[in-house]
Amino acid sequence: MKTAKIQLVDGPVVKALGMKDFQVREMVVVGEKKLIGEVVSIDGDLGTIQVYEETEGLKRDEEIISTGSPLSVKLGPGMVSNIFDGIQRPLSKIEAEHGNFMPEGIGLISLDEEKKWDVTFTVEKGDHVHQGQIFGTVPETVTITHRLLIPVGLEGEIISRVDPGSYTIEDVLMEVQSEDGKVHEVKMAQDWPVRVPRPAAKRKATNQILITGQRILDVFFPIAKGGTTAVPGGFGTGKTMTQHQIAKYCDADLIIYIGCGERGNEMTEVLEDFPNLVDPNTGKSLMDRTILIANTSNMPVAAREASIYTGVTMAEYFRDQGYDVALMADSTSRWAEALREISGRLEEMPAEEGYPAYLPSRIAGFYERGGSVKALSGEDGSVTLIGAVSPAGGDFSEPVTENTKRFVNVFLALDKNLAYARHYPAIHWLTSYSQYLNQLREYYELALDGDLVGLRDKAMDLLHQEAKLNEIVLLVGEEVLPDDQRLVLSICHVLKVGFLQQNAFHSIDCFVPLTKQYQMLSTIDHLYEAGKEAVANHIPIGVVKNQDLYSKVIGMKYNIANDDDRAFVDLNNEITNFYQDLIKEYRG
Ligand SMILES: Nc1ncnc2c1ncn2[C@@H]1O[C@H](COP(=O)(O)OP(=O)(O)O)[C@@H](O)[C@H]1O
Ligand SMILES: [Mg+2]
Repeated sequence: MKTAKIQLVDGPVVKALGMKDFQVREMVVVGEKKLIGEVVSIDGDLGTIQVYEETEGLKRDEEIISTGSPLSVKLGPGMVSNIFDGIQRPLSKIEAEHGNFMPEGIGLISLDEEKKWDVTFTVEKGDHVHQGQIFGTVPETVTITHRLLIPVGLEGEIISRVDPGSYTIEDVLMEVQSEDGKVHEVKMAQDWPVRVPRPAAKRKATNQILITGQRILDVFFPIAKGGTTAVPGGFGTGKTMTQHQIAKYCDADLIIYIGCGERGNEMTEVLEDFPNLVDPNTGKSLMDRTILIANTSNMPVAAREASIYTGVTMAEYFRDQGYDVALMADSTSRWAEALREISGRLEEMPAEEGYPAYLPSRIAGFYERGGSVKALSGEDGSVTLIGAVSPAGGDFSEPVTENTKRFVNVFLALDKNLAYARHYPAIHWLTSYSQYLNQLREYYELALDGDLVGLRDKAMDLLHQEAKLNEIVLLVGEEVLPDDQRLVLSICHVLKVGFLQQNAFHSIDCFVPLTKQYQMLSTIDHLYEAGKEAVANHIPIGVVKNQDLYSKVIGMKYNIANDDDRAFVDLNNEITNFYQDLIKEYRG
């Protein structure tokens, strides 16, 4: 066992002598309190370590012990519906045993090693198995069946196997003999170094939509399963709300929610809300498909830096089992700040705004771990990454937002003016984008018997026209515009209030299936086309913009149940009849 001695303690950073035989990225145990740390650099005999726990009280000459392995997470049953800190220590268990404070030197505990799980096997003695193969299953929660995987790098023949039954994650379930004659024990759980992406058989196209039930996302800026998304916005613009909405309602199999450097009460909200909320896709409690990782602002910064990797490693592991996983990180700006703080203490040369020069490559490295794959098991799985970005003052021209924008395919720009006007979600339609629209075209065509993409493009065009018209209106007033342009303005009002605004707190509006989203947009389109015809027939705009009719269309999100197709037929007939009567009246 290698040991070294502490020279200097500077916040989360410790320098030590006697480290020439240690490895960079190796996990170490620091001081008498046995704190967990990671070697970040070695220069001759002097090593630098980032420590994942409070370093107060650490003293010079205390010992640093090598563990011989990189910072890793334990992957196995017991993760789902649990809450962990940034280095996978189970917070609810620690709280139950030690109260609200993380005891020092608790060590690297992660999954429950005593709990027994019911194992069923899909392989037998004598079978040849390969890396990533599913060898058995465990019912982990009512919604997630944990598929046990042969560890990466292992291939060979099963020379022994226990009977199906109840086992702990540390029990040896099988012995596999590899070609070179070596015998390897296979357990339910396996370790994986968090900073190394887990391998897959191959990458696949991202052509499946992640349905969120949020209209501005599903219709205007869709997220693909396996896609990458940033949600940038200033304080109070709705980043957390947007991520919570997606976490609650999206059709991923598993959610990993990382509370990264934000206030603790937001995490408490998740903890209180999720167990009582029903997953619309399974009818079961949301916690049954959720893993929480909490590294709130009051917790050590180095662990915050690690939390992103802990989360994405767990995501890849469930992807490898054949699941669609969606990971939310709130916020990646706080993660970047942790990187900056540690980098500062390492006396690295600062680049833009004090962030280290490797900020862009770290952001890229994170988002590259998203994707849709054919896993080594042969199953299809995906990791969708959604990161909140919180630039100071909501100014997007700062390094974290700009670099994130380079590496994501969906950009949901939250706008402080919209938030101020209580237009929620405050995702601005002119500054946001999704690069998945084309890849998802076929999906929309198959899912709906109507041209949603066409309607969407048309609505987007109207919204662009509105922005231009508004510049004129600002100068000379609306009255000077011709009636067809005034109609555009009023339809855009309906689009914004009736379609883009969506109330997260309303029982019907909080989650809307794609069919209703389509019916709503198609109704607004009908209102526009019928109005256009009326305008062409010289009916005054004041009459065309009928208040009652417009209110009824705007109110459809609250007044029409999510599965009431009949009500949409009626509403569309009402629009048709209204304008036909008008045209008759004005002709006659
Ligand atoms: N979709 C929404 N529906 C209703 N209210 C919303 C919505 N999005 C945001 N809000 C309001 O905005 C407030 C601030 O949102 P939050 O997500 O906490 O902001 P941020 O994380 O960007 O600081 C919320 O408490 C809520 O009142
Ligand atoms: Mg927030």
